[in-house]
Amino acid sequence: MRVLVVGSGGREHALAWKLKKSPRVQKVYCAPGNAGIAQEAECVPIAAEDIDALVDFARQEKIDLTVVGPEAPLNLGIVDAFTAAGLSIFGPMQKAARLEGSKVFAKQIMEKYRIPTAESRSFTDVEEALVYLREKGAPIVVKADGLAAGKGVVVAATLAEAEDAVRRMLLEKEFGAAGSRIIIEEYLQGEEVTVLAFTDGEAIIPMASSQDHKAAYDGDKGPNTGGMGAYSPAPVLTKELLAQVEKEILQPTIAGLRAEGIIYKGVLYAGLMITEKGPKVLEYNVRFGDPECQVILPRLKTDLCTIMLAVINNDLANTTIEWYDHHAACVVMASGGYPLSYQKGKIITGLNEAAKLQDVYIFHAGTAKEGDKFVTSGGRVLGITAWGGKLTDALDKAYQAVKLINFAGAHYRRDIGQKALRRQNSIRNLP
Ligand code: AMP
Ligand code: GLY
Repeated sequence: MRVLVVGSGGREHALAWKLKKSPRVQKVYCAPGNAGIAQEAECVPIAAEDIDALVDFARQEKIDLTVVGPEAPLNLGIVDAFTAAGLSIFGPMQKAARLEGSKVFAKQIMEKYRIPTAESRSFTDVEEALVYLREKGAPIVVKADGLAAGKGVVVAATLAEAEDAVRRMLLEKEFGAAGSRIIIEEYLQGEEVTVLAFTDGEAIIPMASSQDHKAAYDGDKGPNTGGMGAYSPAPVLTKELLAQVEKEILQPTIAGLRAEGIIYKGVLYAGLMITEKGPKVLEYNVRFGDPECQVILPRLKTDLCTIMLAVINNDLANTTIEWYDHHAACVVMASGGYPLSYQKGKIITGLNEAAKLQDVYIFHAGTAKEGDKFVTSGGRVLGITAWGGKLTDALDKAYQAVKLINFAGAHYRRDIGQKALRRQNSIRNLP
């Protein structure tokens, strides 16, 4: 089979890497890809949002399977366009992708189908929003309705911070149209966990659990980022809790959408808070997480290509998905300044030495080639991923590799996985 991966980050590198290992796959393309992805796939200079050009390319190159990494093309309707052109593609249709594209829509589905989530209200009017804020008090959470590259959520510790967020979104249009409607939501306390699942709109198979580290600095300090590291499995998600998540969240979400006439196919990402009253949905994403994908795929034993075809062909109920027992960890090395402004073009050294380590793989998130050198070209630059029998083995190997790699201004968290290690000492029996 000839496969096309759409996107250019660490997640897409992991997808291309895994798909290339499939005995069913002869050739992998990636659009637009990055310098690291070029080691696994032929990169083609077509933007992930240029749907017409991607359809033309897939037709010309007789692509048998297209896999979409990021949310933007899904929300633009890439799956609808490929399907209309008779091309096979993995991911949800535009209507289904609204689950991530509009937080208001996601909340409506959760309310209608009684899926546990934070209490919330939506607003377009500043004054009404401010009145509601004052009534509720802080801490409280303000969210832009639309896609804002992970930056449209403000967890406000004080009323002043929340009021400021409301004004920036509704008055100053900081997120453009994505913030012309907002949600004000109850602050939930607990531990976060990500549950991803494959679904063909009927059958749902959860993947190995994982946990992202969203804050920029150690101890969950600093601004939120796309994700500074991850590990899998996540010990907070016991088998019992996963069963509860399937019954109370995953199944009613997919069944609720179906009742609305929306067949959801692809990966459903449920960002959850495990509260004292049980798991509650913080957000849905309609794709693999980044960097969660980088720790999940190395643990996947079953052929990814076969799973994706089963999803497309409504045959997931007849598919068994197996995982390796090992633990995986990913440490993201980011550009100095990220998630705020940062410089590009810094030379990266040590990649060859790090690549020689066993059970380590370096996924490139934002790199380019200048001559024969790799240079930085994004906020998140590399996802150093390792695996081993225990989480400590995976973390030791990942950090060993991180120490070999250098670029000016590089920063990374030194506490990836620590929360899991604290918990793991008390809990066994993980999915
Ligand atoms: P989201 O993009 O909705 O997942 O929000 C980004 C991050 O903000 C989440 O990963 C949480 O850490 C935090 N967050 C979002 N909603 C809430 C909430 N209702 N209560 C507490 N923290 C939240
Ligand atoms: N790591 C969070 C996300 O992919 O949205």
